[in-house]
Amino acid sequence: MEKFIIEGPTRLCGEVTVSGAKNAAVAIIPATILAQGKCVIENIPNISDITVLFKILRAMGATVRVLNRSTVEVDTTYIGEPVVPYELARYMRASYYMLGTLLTRCNRASVSMPGGCNFGVRPIDQHMKGFEALGAHVSIDSGMINAQADMLLGAHIYFDVVSVGATINVMLAAVKAKGITILENCAKEPHIVDLANFLNSMGADVRGAGTDVIKIHGVDILHGTTYSIIPDQIEAGTYMVAAAATGGDVLVKNVIPKHLESIIEKLEKAGAVITEYDDAVRVARDGELSKVNLKTMPHPGFPTDMQPQMTALLSMASGTSIVTEGVWDNRFRYVDELRRMGALIQVDGKVAVVEGVPQLTGAPVRAVDLRAGAAVLIAAMAAKGTTEIEDIEHIERGYEDIADKLTVLGANVKKMIVPEKPLQAAL
Ligand code: EPU
Repeated sequence: MEKFIIEGPTRLCGEVTVSGAKNAAVAIIPATILAQGKCVIENIPNISDITVLFKILRAMGATVRVLNRSTVEVDTTYIGEPVVPYELARYMRASYYMLGTLLTRCNRASVSMPGGCNFGVRPIDQHMKGFEALGAHVSIDSGMINAQADMLLGAHIYFDVVSVGATINVMLAAVKAKGITILENCAKEPHIVDLANFLNSMGADVRGAGTDVIKIHGVDILHGTTYSIIPDQIEAGTYMVAAAATGGDVLVKNVIPKHLESIIEKLEKAGAVITEYDDAVRVARDGELSKVNLKTMPHPGFPTDMQPQMTALLSMASGTSIVTEGVWDNRFRYVDELRRMGALIQVDGKVAVVEGVPQLTGAPVRAVDLRAGAAVLIAAMAAKGTTEIEDIEHIERGYEDIADKLTVLGANVKKMIVPEKPLQAAL
């Protein structure tokens, strides 16, 4: 077990380079199963979710060659049993993208119910609805999701909720289905557009990604390709919020500013000064932090994956902010951790009332999930004193070299190994 030990307060200053987008990479890597030939993927983030996906591919017989720190060649010429067992699927949500790709490639797939962050119930009914509309038979048995189809046929599918995962999974299943598939009420996140661009670079015919309606003409063959993943919108946003929260001045490089519009708008309202460049944004703050109300929504709304980080910032703003979670049922579990640091936050269902305090104080806390971990890390850098964050494996699932990147910006973050206590000693 490892933990972060942070001494605060610090003011983050300097430059940080954003890595490739986790949520694009976790869709694109399973999509290599659809290629006849090798795929070279560039700008892959070096995070544990990606390591798990490569383990899954290797376990099925694919060859994964690391060409350099952020480039990998995947050869899926041989794929054996289309099964992803619990031991591998339980670490991450995106393991279920293997369903869409294996169904297309092998006409059947069995994938254990996926893991990932705990935000309450995380249904997969829209994935199943999409697969079934394409002609698959889908069942859940002993914790395994099983899908099987003699042939996938294009269909007209309307999603009842806007779902990133269902949009991606059904795209993956439809890309070689016979005929035309029309997906309506699709998610529009940047990683959906990135996946469509990747598939099109393999010879697919996917149009409309980034809008509500995606139209897919099924093709017979997808070939290998070389593709570079977009920068991570949420990693960029996290460093932007960290800069503003600590009263710093940071140039966040390798970003697509268009993807950051909703975050920029809220940070400016909170008192940050933001300058946009072609592929970078500079975030600086001198004055006080001000209250801001926000509600998370599917893209282009304010991203739910930035909600905990912004709440950490607002817990130090003057005035009372209202933060409403519009995507997940239960994404305020981390608030208890911020309260240990002196934050005054009341949660009622999907609404948090954040009464800003002038200064947080260091405390022992946990990273209850990935973005919750980023939030307590931001709070710790702004807080006075020492904060110890446990369960940092959640943070490392999604942020490449976060301790090193923050250290370069002037933070005092150390990673320590915590010896496992024997049960008796712990009692
Ligand atoms: N939903 C359903 N039925 C479904 C699928 C989803 O009702 O079949 C509901 C969910 O319960 C939720 C809403 O639809 O209320 C949105 O869920 P979505 O399917 O969009 O989420 P996801 O695909 O499971 C991805 C990201 C999450 C991010 C959400 C929302 C990946 C691997 N994960 O999850 O990212 O919070 O979209 O933007 O892409 C993170 O990176 O920290 C993270 C959790």
